[in-house]
Amino acid sequence: MKKVIVTGTAGFIGFHLANKLLKQGYEIVGIDNLNDYYDVNLKEARNKILKEHKNYNFKKIDISEYDKLFSECSNHKVDMIVHLAAQAGVRHSIENPHVYGKYNLNGTLNIFEVARHQKIPKIVYASSSSVYGGNTIVPFSESHNVDKPVSLYAATKKANELKAHAYSHLYGINMTGLRFFTVYGPYGRPDMAAYMFVKNILEDKPIKIFNQGDMERDFTYVDDIVNGIISAMDKDFKYEIFNLGNSNPEKLMDFVGILEKHCGKKAIKEFHPMQAGDVKKTHACLKKTKEMLGWEPTTNIDEGLKNFIEWYKEYHNVKKR
Ligand SMILES: NC(=O)c1ccc[n+]([C@@H]2O[C@H](COP(=O)([O-])OP(=O)(O)OC[C@H]3O[C@@H](n4cnc5c(N)ncnc54)[C@H](O)[C@@H]3O)[C@@H](O)[C@H]2O)c1
Repeated sequence: MKKVIVTGTAGFIGFHLANKLLKQGYEIVGIDNLNDYYDVNLKEARNKILKEHKNYNFKKIDISEYDKLFSECSNHKVDMIVHLAAQAGVRHSIENPHVYGKYNLNGTLNIFEVARHQKIPKIVYASSSSVYGGNTIVPFSESHNVDKPVSLYAATKKANELKAHAYSHLYGINMTGLRFFTVYGPYGRPDMAAYMFVKNILEDKPIKIFNQGDMERDFTYVDDIVNGIISAMDKDFKYEIFNLGNSNPEKLMDFVGILEKHCGKKAIKEFHPMQAGDVKKTHACLKKTKEMLGWEPTTNIDEGLKNFIEWYKEYHNVKKR
């Protein structure tokens, strides 16, 4: 039986990944500090589901605290680490820069150091489409230059890709970085557009539409992302980076239209200028991912958002119309 440390298991993607791996018979050591960046009840609710599996061993640890992390990890002989814990959010990094240094930079360094000293041979870690910054050549390819991040969050993700290269080179740890593109789905994050828009549409409150609606996002369904992570876990690359995106960008106003359809209500729209740190368009090139990971997404946005809204209504006890 494979045993894996997964960081960020109380988070959106970590929860879905751990849940699937546990069902497949993996033994999971889940690490999360359950911080209050967003509603801790949602993190607890995800974790409660995971704790129903006897092969789930949860540890409330902050990965930026090296000694505690090191000592806990040394209790387990694992095949690899899947490192998803991070302070996410582009906009939050403008007001709260230091937490990105602490969690994303130091936290990730600590994970790499644990792998180095405890001879863990492989790490699959979360990067982000945000590393493409203001790049305008689309679709975004892993071969493109990504030296111009437009947010501190993106800069920490790029820095981690560079650190991964050094650790792979120096200590022979297999390092696979996955650049996720705007992930959505059940148990999704309350700070992201799908969640905020659905909440406000259902509560008859206005939704904020930035750059006057002239934006496109390569929304990617969480089950597809999980399958992509598992494809990466199943392979051994010395050092690689892959895009995991839908490769089918959705115009923001079309996205709102699909939400309105499945909510059965019109949104009250408030138009605003572009926000600092944001980018106008994301679009993943999947050539390398298809060739080397054998992965491609299978969920279209209509089906994915329908699932998300069904979950949202059930989770929040929204009365059926
Ligand atoms: N959701 C997306 O659209 C998206 C896109 C690109 C990249 N990512 C990356 O994917 C990963 C998972 O994202 P998510 O959407 O599930 O976010 P999330 O915030 O829901 O999950 C991250 C989890 O990590 C935990 N965490 C944060 N700092 C920690 C620390 N210092 N110690 C221990 N635990 C800590 C949080 O409590 C949280 O439960 C992150 O690395 C994120 O940057 C996500």
